[in-house]
Amino acid sequence: MNVLVIGSGGREHALCWSLAASPLVNKLVCAPGNPGIGQVAKLVAVDPLDRDAVLQLCRDEHIDFVVVGPEAPLVAGLVDHLEAAGFACFGPTKAAARLEGSKGFMKDLCAKYGIPTAAYGRFSDAAEAAAFIRKQGAPIVVKADGLAAGKGVTVAMTLDEALAANAALFTVPGAEVVIEEFLDGEEVSFFALVDGETALPLASAQDHKRVGDGDTGPNTGGMGAYSPAPVLTPELERFVMERIVQPTVAAMKAEGCPFRGVLFAGLMLTATGPKLLEYNTRFGDPECQTLMLRLKSDLLPALMASRDGVLKDFDLRWRDEHAVCIVMAGEGYPGEPRKGTMIKGLDAAASLPDVVIFHAGTRAGPDDTILANGGRVLGICGLGATTREAQARAYAAVDKIDWPEGFCRRDIAWRAIAREG
Ligand code: AMP
Ligand code: GLY
Repeated sequence: MNVLVIGSGGREHALCWSLAASPLVNKLVCAPGNPGIGQVAKLVAVDPLDRDAVLQLCRDEHIDFVVVGPEAPLVAGLVDHLEAAGFACFGPTKAAARLEGSKGFMKDLCAKYGIPTAAYGRFSDAAEAAAFIRKQGAPIVVKADGLAAGKGVTVAMTLDEALAANAALFTVPGAEVVIEEFLDGEEVSFFALVDGETALPLASAQDHKRVGDGDTGPNTGGMGAYSPAPVLTPELERFVMERIVQPTVAAMKAEGCPFRGVLFAGLMLTATGPKLLEYNTRFGDPECQTLMLRLKSDLLPALMASRDGVLKDFDLRWRDEHAVCIVMAGEGYPGEPRKGTMIKGLDAAASLPDVVIFHAGTRAGPDDTILANGGRVLGICGLGATTREAQARAYAAVDKIDWPEGFCRRDIAWRAIAREG
């Protein structure tokens, strides 16, 4: 089969790395990709948001199956556009991607179907939102309704902070906000493949959103991840499947917008049980990198079964090992990162046992050099019998990388390692 992967980050490199190993794949194309992906796929410089250009690419390359990595093209309806033209796609339609694209939609769905989540109010008027915030009091959470690349959420510890965040969101014309009850607990992510009707559990993972060690400093897209996350015990996982994931899948079908693709539940493990913080309608980045390292089965048939509605009784195998992914970022991230600096030592790092390196924000420089070209630049992954071993392997690889202008956190997976004792 000829497979097209849409996107250019570490997640898409991990997906391409996994798909390239499939005996079913004849030709692997990625748009636009990055130099790391270029080692396993043909790169084509097409913008994922230019849906006619993507459609033309499918025709030109005789594509049989499209895998959409990032949320923006999903929310913009890329899957609808390609499917209407006869191209099979993995990923939700525009209507189903509202689970990620609109927090208000997600919250209303949870309320209607009794899915455990934080209490909330939804507002399109600044004064009404402010009155609600005053009535509820701090701590409280203020969220922009639409996609905001992780920047639309303020967890406000004081009333002033909440009111300021609310006022800032309403400077945008037509803004909608969701004001939420503050939930206390440990966060964990859970992934399931969904085919419109059946949800097949994949795995748990934990991300590190803050830029600094000890979970300090500003939020980022994710500075590292590990899978599995032992905090999600089999019992909690059962609760999440039965009370959150499956009811959501049934609700989406009942609402006339069946969900197909990866359902990525961001959960808070509160004293009164798991609650849904958010849904994403695609793999997490960098969580996907850890999932792909652990996946033993061929990825392609699983993605095709999700698209074709035949996930029931699908047998997906995982390695027993644990995986850790350390993100190396460019100086300045999550602010304006320094770009164009040279990264050396990649081959030496990748030659270490049980290490895989995924590119995110890189570009090719002269004479086969690799240059930093973004905030999150590399995902250095290790696999091991324990999380501690996986972490040690990943950091041994990080230490082989010669890139003075890059940095990473030194404590990725600390919670799981503390639990391992
Ligand atoms: P979201 O994009 O909705 O997942 O929010 C981003 C981050 O904000 C989450 O990963 C949590 O760390 C935090 N957050 C979101 N909603 C809440 C809430 N209701 N209570 C506490 N923290 C929250
Ligand atoms: N790492 C979090 C996300 O992909 O949204």
